[in-house]
Amino acid sequence: MYARPRRNRKYDAIRKMVQETHLHVDHLIYPLFVTNNLGEESRIDALPGIYRWGKDVVIKEVERCIALGIKSFVLFPVVPEAFKDGKASYSFQSDNFYLEVIATLKSEFPDISLMSDVALDPYSTDGHDGVVENGEILNDPSLPILADMSLAQAQAGIDIIGPSDMMDGRVGYIREVLDENGYSNTSIMSYCAKYASAFYGPFREALDSAPKSGDKKTYQMDPANKKEALREAFLDIEEGADMLMVKPALSYLDVIQTIDENVTLPVTAYNVSGEYAMLHAAVEKGWLDYEATMTEMLLSIRRAGAKGILTYFAKDFAQFNQS
Ligand code: PBG
Repeated sequence: MYARPRRNRKYDAIRKMVQETHLHVDHLIYPLFVTNNLGEESRIDALPGIYRWGKDVVIKEVERCIALGIKSFVLFPVVPEAFKDGKASYSFQSDNFYLEVIATLKSEFPDISLMSDVALDPYSTDGHDGVVENGEILNDPSLPILADMSLAQAQAGIDIIGPSDMMDGRVGYIREVLDENGYSNTSIMSYCAKYASAFYGPFREALDSAPKSGDKKTYQMDPANKKEALREAFLDIEEGADMLMVKPALSYLDVIQTIDENVTLPVTAYNVSGEYAMLHAAVEKGWLDYEATMTEMLLSIRRAGAKGILTYFAKDFAQFNQS
C-alpha cells in the first residue's frame, strides 16, 4: 500500500495545511430584525438568541457585532399591521422607520456593508411578495413598487439591494430605476434561486409576514428543480445583478455548486431560519453539539461554492472564534 491518505491527517498542523475550504467571520452576513419601537428587545420563539430590535437599540447591537468582527448585515423590517396595505406603500414612504435605521447605521458605521430586503410581504396585508388581485400574484404591477422600495433604500444609503420577491424581470427594472436616479454604485444581490421552502417558518413568525391565503409556489421555485435555478441565474446576470443568492442553503448545496461552476459572479447562500431553528432544537435536547455542528454546516455551504453566507449563526460563530 503506497497511498495512505491518513498521512495527510496525522496531526493538526498538517490537517490545517491541506485544508481546502476556509470559513471566517468575513464571509458571514448577519440578519437583523428591526422594529419601529424604542428600546424593544423581543425574543423570537423559534429563533433562540435572535431578537427584534427597536430602531434605537439596533445601533447598540450592531456595535456589539462589529466588536466581534462582523462587517456585513442584512436588515428586515417588522412592520406594524396598521402600516400595511395591499400595495406595500409604507415601504417607500420617506419617513419609514426601516429607511431611518439604514441612514443611521450608515452614518454611525460607514465601513459596514449593509444589505436590504426588497419584497412586498413585510409591508403587505396579503403577506405576498407581489401585488395580489383575485388570488393571483401579479408580476408586472409589482415591479414599480419593488423599484420605488429599492430607490428609497438607495437614497437612505443602503450598500446592497436584496430583491427576494422572485418576480420576473425585477433585477433589470430595479437596476434601470437606480441608474436613472444616480445610484449606479448601489449593488444588487439577487435572490436568484429562492425556493418555495418549508424552512422559512420561523422568519415569518418573526415578521408576522406569512401569506394570508395561498402559498408562494407561483413565484418561488420548486425544490425539485436545478436547471431552472441556472436559468434564473443567467437572467439575473443579463439584467445586471452583481451577486447571486441561493436560498435556503443546506438542502440546496447542489444548486449552490452548480451555479458557482457556471457563472463568474460571486454566489452567496442564505442559511435560513428553519435551518437555524432545527439545530437549536436538537441542541436543546442534548442531541447535537452546537459549535461543532454549526461550524460543519457553515463550512459545507462554503465548500459548495458560496462566498458569503447570510446566517443567524454569525454572532455565535464570531463569539466562538474570538482571537
Ligand atoms: C421575504 C423573505 C423571506 C425570507 C427572507 N425574505 C420569507 C418568505 O419568502 O416567505 C426567509 C428568510 C428565513 O427564513 O430566514 N421575501
